[in-house]
Amino acid sequence: MICGLIKDDMDYVREGNVFHFVTDEASRPAWSKALDEYLTGTPVNLMMKRKYSGQKRRMNSNDALRHFVEFVSASGGIKVDLASGPSGYFAPFLDTLKDDDCLIITDACPAIIKAHADACKKDNFYIFDVDLDKGLPFKDKSVDLFTGNLLNNVENYPGLIKEAYRCLKPGGKLALIEIFFDQGSKTQQSLAEQGKIWASYEDFVRFCESVGFTCTGSETVATRKGPISPGDLYPLDKDDCSTDKTIYLTKKGSP
Ligand SMILES: C[S@@+](CC[C@H](N)C(=O)[O-])C[C@H]1O[C@@H](n2cnc3c(N)ncnc32)[C@H](O)[C@@H]1O
Repeated sequence: MICGLIKDDMDYVREGNVFHFVTDEASRPAWSKALDEYLTGTPVNLMMKRKYSGQKRRMNSNDALRHFVEFVSASGGIKVDLASGPSGYFAPFLDTLKDDDCLIITDACPAIIKAHADACKKDNFYIFDVDLDKGLPFKDKSVDLFTGNLLNNVENYPGLIKEAYRCLKPGGKLALIEIFFDQGSKTQQSLAEQGKIWASYEDFVRFCESVGFTCTGSETVATRKGPISPGDLYPLDKDDCSTDKTIYLTKKGSP
């Protein structure tokens, strides 16, 4: 089933449930090599199984996050998590995965890919080692659901949303958790001037609708004033407010 989803012109190397679309290290993006060196060259322990347990508790600790997990669990078929990263936030999706569904997670950092491959051995759990800035390896109209948690450091975020739209079946869904800055804040204005689609919730919805998505709902996970951690790049002003939100988008058409 899994190989039938992949575009005919894609080169890849399969190693068990890991599919490497980055087939030679020379073409691995520089940022992912740097992240890999940081994760493997310092005493950072990805402790993925422990993270999965922690994320199962976290995703059940807040109504908006719990609804997000319920939404993902209610969708059957082919589910793909974008830029899955080191947090393991998708762990609760694994618990509700039915035998004939599959979950594909994606990243381009070798240490993160290995940590997830070691932590989860389910037959219908796959890991795609792929540079998402270069497009998605799936055929048109092949995926039921895309998910993503905090994708705003993917360089080509607009291109990724367009690719998700291409790969989704009609009626397919895109469910994201993202940080948005308040409309009119210095940070939002600056990000909007830079053409960042995630500058504010309104900017983001406008962009997704321009691609063809319909926004079917959103909930607030948390709000804050100022940075999450000292030294963060954003917000640009200590008084700027941001909101973590879930957002649900549907591709037009009947399934
Ligand atoms: C974009 S954030 C996503 C956070 C992640 N969803 C989590 O919950 O931990 C960081 C992750 O995205 C991955 N990433 C960023 N840009 C990417 C790209 N172009 N292709 C593949 N992975 C990417 C990084 O390797 C990193 O693991």
